[in-house]
Amino acid sequence: MTKAKELQAKGIKVIQLDVGEPDFPTPINVIKAAERAMENGFTHYTPSAGILELREAIANKLREENNLNVTKDNIIVTPGSKQAIFYAIMALVDEDDEVIIPTPAWPSYMEIVNLAGGKVREVPSLPDFSLNIEGIKEVINNKTKLIILNSPNNPTGYVMKKEEIKALAEIAIDSDIFVLSDEIYEKLIYEGEHISIGSIPGMEERTLTINGFSKTYAMTGWRLGYIAAPKPIALEINKIQQHSASCVTSFVQIAGIEALKPETPIKPMIEEFKRRRDYICNALEKIPWFKVNKPSGAFYIFPDISTSGMNSDEFCNMLLEKLGISTTPGSAFGGYNKNIRISYATSIENLREAVSRMEKLLR
Ligand SMILES: Cc1ncc(COP(=O)(O)O)c(C=O)c1O
Repeated sequence: MTKAKELQAKGIKVIQLDVGEPDFPTPINVIKAAERAMENGFTHYTPSAGILELREAIANKLREENNLNVTKDNIIVTPGSKQAIFYAIMALVDEDDEVIIPTPAWPSYMEIVNLAGGKVREVPSLPDFSLNIEGIKEVINNKTKLIILNSPNNPTGYVMKKEEIKALAEIAIDSDIFVLSDEIYEKLIYEGEHISIGSIPGMEERTLTINGFSKTYAMTGWRLGYIAAPKPIALEINKIQQHSASCVTSFVQIAGIEALKPETPIKPMIEEFKRRRDYICNALEKIPWFKVNKPSGAFYIFPDISTSGMNSDEFCNMLLEKLGISTTPGSAFGGYNKNIRISYATSIENLREAVSRMEKLLR
């Protein structure tokens, strides 16, 4: 980040392929709903679990779209899904409990488990980024409390298949382990389908489903997410929220009700992400540095760059210093020194410019 700023200060246009947020504006109907709420004086504390209408709207969505057997009593509305993940881990993980994290994984999972005093057991995924089921079985012991899943995945864009989800559910049930399923990129799927592990028989009482509004509705700055948890855990999580954040910003919750309505125009954003994914994957396949595993979801690709002879940190530095392109080293996601994360949450023009800079350097 600092280097990127230095280059920008020198007048070099840095193309940011390291961002984890949609570059689209929040849909106007959502903005208007928040404005109306403020003008109508909806500017005070709300119940800590969230306003009833939003919890009901979320429970409806989870029942209808995700086949989860939940009601408003299972739902806690949180300031972003990151906070939901933080609460869930704080509620479940005690000192020395072990948490299995299939990698590559979003770095906050590891950090939050460490903050809770738990021990992270990373299990590298298979080369196609599918779950290493045997590897997961091998690390389970009587201290294992939780497995964290994330599909579509950050940083790989991998979308888990039904067989993998079923296999993992079987392990969780047999070994009496909780599953935290981070489904924040659920709507950003270009092939295949999203399956919530909480819908698999026997998983209801051991699944904590996380989702939020940041990625689907381009609402990163609004800080709005939620967790669906078995009732006793939802009560514990609500206590943590009650005595920390108190509640989510009142008018942001009203915006959330609006966002969930079918008229919110998310389809054009999803189509544009798909167009960019196709463009960047095709373009990078022609550049000898990259071995691309074309992903089906989210807005990231995680190519192998080992043919460059550099590790991920060196490669990202080279891209930034020589070409003014910022990316994220794979080392950030659980020691993936041979990969980098490229985000295509930026305009197709920026992607074209980045590709053209790379081609020029290689010529
Ligand atoms: C996998 C994953 N989970 C959760 C989050 C947090 O999202 P938010 O707190 O904005 O809802 C992110 C953000 O980048 C993410 O990539």
